[in-house]
Amino acid sequence: MDAKIEVLIPEQDVRDRIQEMADALSEKYAGENLHLIGILNGSVFFLTALAQKMSIPVEIDFMAASSYGSGTESSGRVLVTKDLDRSIEGDHILLVEDIVDTGQTLHLITEMLEERNPASMELAVLLDKPSRRKVCMDADYIGFEIPDVFVVGWGLDYDQKYRELPFVGIVTE
Ligand code: XMP
Ligand code: MG
Repeated sequence: MDAKIEVLIPEQDVRDRIQEMADALSEKYAGENLHLIGILNGSVFFLTALAQKMSIPVEIDFMAASSYGSGTESSGRVLVTKDLDRSIEGDHILLVEDIVDTGQTLHLITEMLEERNPASMELAVLLDKPSRRKVCMDADYIGFEIPDVFVVGWGLDYDQKYRELPFVGIVTE
């Protein structure tokens, strides 16, 4: 049976906000070589929309990772199931993710990427659920803050479905 999905953030609002984020990024990184790094699979729709709205050339690369362990900052581990294709040493990195929730996954990924010595690293997320945070993780660019609700669309899935929805929706049943 299909789930019932209510619109939380309409498509045009998402697109307008991505344009604003892209403008800010294009201004900040003008004249620099910027690498967008997306975390698979959730970041794909946001990353491509953002890249298309930017007015500077960018390189893109992806990695896939999942966190495991007890879930605390000290004991969490990240398992990289697909690594980046290229070194990021000396590069300006923008890590791109669909959502930051407890912050654990991004905390571990940023720690791991810092060890590869990029020239700089910032984080852009489409959605932020600050009420769920377990570890300190502040994104530099945030599309929307949302309450503690389970959302789909723009890369976010319910049982691997609905990633393609062009609005952010709440699964109601
Ligand atoms: P952290 O480590 O920040 O994990 O807790 C973030 C990851 O959790 C997933 N997530 C969601 N997926 N709807 C989803 O489809 C949601 O509302 C949601 N909240 C968190 C997501 O994979 C994200 O990368
Ligand atoms: Mg994810």
